[in-house]
Amino acid sequence: MNEPIKKIAVLTSGGDAPGMNAAIRAVVRACTYYRVDCVGVYRGYQGLIEGDFETLSARHVSNIINKGGTILKSARSEEFKTVEGRAKAYENLKKAGIGALVIIGGDGTFTGGLKFIEEFNFPVVGIPGTIDNDIYGTDNTIGYDTALNTVVEVIDKIRDTASSHNRLFFIEVMGRDAGFIALNSGIGAGAEEILIPEKNLGLDRLVESLDKSREKGKTSSIVVVSEGDKIGKNVFELADYIKEKYPFYDIRVSVLGHMQRGGSPSCYDRVLASRLGVAAVEAILDRTSGVMVGVTNNEVTSVGFNKAIKMNHDINEELLKVAEITSV
Ligand code: F6P
Repeated sequence: MNEPIKKIAVLTSGGDAPGMNAAIRAVVRACTYYRVDCVGVYRGYQGLIEGDFETLSARHVSNIINKGGTILKSARSEEFKTVEGRAKAYENLKKAGIGALVIIGGDGTFTGGLKFIEEFNFPVVGIPGTIDNDIYGTDNTIGYDTALNTVVEVIDKIRDTASSHNRLFFIEVMGRDAGFIALNSGIGAGAEEILIPEKNLGLDRLVESLDKSREKGKTSSIVVVSEGDKIGKNVFELADYIKEKYPFYDIRVSVLGHMQRGGSPSCYDRVLASRLGVAAVEAILDRTSGVMVGVTNNEVTSVGFNKAIKMNHDINEELLKVAEITSV
């Protein structure tokens, strides 16, 4: 266990996020800087099971800091959820002489990492990469800032057509279980109402808010709905309900979908990813395992996988108030 670590593997897993490439680049270059070998694992945990590895030098990661997606590709591996799958992954790591693993992803990725450490006592450090921002122990996850900017840009465009036709738009944004994208993009794009899973406002409250908007002379409205919101079964049902109640509304629905996951990362995400890539390699060389590195109050921090997965990254109440006040 205490032999020096000479080779580190890195993988991306779960939903891809803009900035993952910048994180891979930082991990590879930190390995070069600290004179350890670096191996890229393709397709996340699935590639670990299949031994889909490639040695990466500093030059392999040239010209990727500005690219969306992940050069290592990503997957949600069902096989890694089995003991047999994880045992194959461990054997492949040992065979390749790899002494530690950096995993870039979200809660599913860290849950897999935790299991792997418990079973094989193999050193693993995590980097938070998901557009959802639903991880405890970091102010922002890699990809979240870029996704917000993408969403705001699109809502601005929808607003042009919404106001030209006096329409009510329901816009669904990503965030499987979390409303961070909806709340922040909603404020940034000036939405009239924002629906998020953390605060179930209920249909009555939505209807009341639309009534108020009309009374105040608003001729078009934007309602941002997080995909995880449970008011309606989905955004289309929600729109149907309002249409039935208020037939005079000219309603349209826009589901932004996977466009939110693509595109060149923002400068914020590139810097965050670079800091966390370096921090992850340094944590491994300091013989740390089972933690996720993050940035909190502009300081690099680390938190156990257990906490990162299980604790809630709270919605900021002040933002909810700002959303309410600025939509009067
Ligand atoms: O977790 C990131 C995320 O983009 C969620 O916001 C979304 O619900 C999910 O992934 C979609 O996953 P998939 O690409 O597998 O459809």
